[in-house]
Amino acid sequence: MAPRPSTVPQVVIFPFMAQGHTLPLLDLSKALSSKQINVTIITTPSNAKSILDHVSKHPNIRLIELPFPTADGVPRGCENTSQLPSMEYHAPFLMATKRLRKPFERVLNDMKESQSLPLCVVSDFFLGFTQPVCQSFGIPRLVFHGMGVLPMAICKASWVHKPNPDPDSGHIDLPGLKLPFVLTASDLPHEVVNSSDLNDPMSQFLEEVGDADVNSWGVIVNSFEDLELGRVSYFESFYKNGARAWCIGPLNLHDEDVNTQNAPFGSTNVMKWLKEHESRSGSVLYVSFGSQADVSDAQLDEVGLGLVESGVQFIWVVRSTTWSPPNDMKERLDDRRGLIVSDWVDQRRILSHVSIGGFLSHCGWNSVLESLSVGVPILAWPMMAEQALNARVVVDGLGAGVRVRNQGVAGGSGNGVVSWKAISKGVRELMGEGEKGTSARERARVLGGVARRAVEEGGSSYKTLDELLQKLQCQC
Ligand code: UDX
Repeated sequence: MAPRPSTVPQVVIFPFMAQGHTLPLLDLSKALSSKQINVTIITTPSNAKSILDHVSKHPNIRLIELPFPTADGVPRGCENTSQLPSMEYHAPFLMATKRLRKPFERVLNDMKESQSLPLCVVSDFFLGFTQPVCQSFGIPRLVFHGMGVLPMAICKASWVHKPNPDPDSGHIDLPGLKLPFVLTASDLPHEVVNSSDLNDPMSQFLEEVGDADVNSWGVIVNSFEDLELGRVSYFESFYKNGARAWCIGPLNLHDEDVNTQNAPFGSTNVMKWLKEHESRSGSVLYVSFGSQADVSDAQLDEVGLGLVESGVQFIWVVRSTTWSPPNDMKERLDDRRGLIVSDWVDQRRILSHVSIGGFLSHCGWNSVLESLSVGVPILAWPMMAEQALNARVVVDGLGAGVRVRNQGVAGGSGNGVVSWKAISKGVRELMGEGEKGTSARERARVLGGVARRAVEEGGSSYKTLDELLQKLQCQC
């Protein structure tokens, strides 16, 4: 596609090919577009359609498609982590994206030749190769991690200081960082814990993208000031050249379709089901474990039983292609009690529906923000990556949720499956009238208001985005 004329300022956005990393950057694209900035999103062919669907109302957002590189260990046709057969393919997938460097360089070169270089490139943390390329063109790179400030600060500090847990308590202290909870090694992403293993290709990859990260011009943070008080400057201290972390979220609140009454839910039976439950405000639990976590069928059996036993109404999105409810569960699950969906749903619209009163979540950062920004408390069940840290923030830091406790392990043999009893107990705690649920609901309600004010005109995130754009425009 020919580069556009340069009269209108342009931003290039290069998301990592995973739902949880791409969606917030599409929200950012829309926010920029509504401020009369042209946006060019770089992606690969099989991700293009869903991106175009998201941004179709914005004529000043366009796409450039780069072929996804073929690489050992990445099944042909997989261009998004949600298409990978399992998490084992994640590392080769990450490495394969490095081969996009040359094509990315050509994109910027074309822009240079047509005198339409962008104000900046916003690219994912995993796409570290974009940093030296941007630098060679004299373009600021803003890095996007898809996480809140506190989890990022903990990961950075743990990576740099490699702290040893206290041998008695297992607690971890990070120099200079005051935490609202006690940190243990099990809260850290396993890639961070294994970071000293220099033979591990993933550690090497993270070291590489981490170097590129700290040399970036700035960081785009999907969070808002009131959620991150006192930590932003600590986080910024890991960056070179005075890079600033720009808190401009929750980005999902820039998704203009959320409040549209008749917006499709991506699955008509969900909309119908929710409509039928509209009269019972806050009575339904939404259950989803995001776009990446592998949840075994044995674990799904326990989740199903836990939900049925809790007595709470629910909508449950199951991604497994092999699982279906066992017969005894089917018998107990009439349509009024629960809905199980296997296709992609429009989570944001579901969460903003009046019937939803809680979210049983893996605590991906987008899910956390999408839930809290509409005042829905969370039953936290972290599964991978930085999700345990997100869960800590939600439950122990913000008090806007309760935790699924890994007690009463099913099978009794330490097989790592959380029992239906623990799940059912958590659901009743969150959705019930007890102290924990009541207090989590109230905190989530208050935070929802704070989050919405942050992105409204005059709010902290609104002002920060304007300030960022002004600074970028002054640089040109
Ligand atoms: C990944 C990481 O695992 C997470 O820890 C990190 O913070 C972001 O990336 P992911 O599993 O993708 O997380 O979860 P999440 O961050 O919650 O993002 C999922 C996105 O997909 C959300 O925006 C959610 O609304 C959307 N989604 C998910 C749907 O719209 N429909 C679905 O059916 C499932």
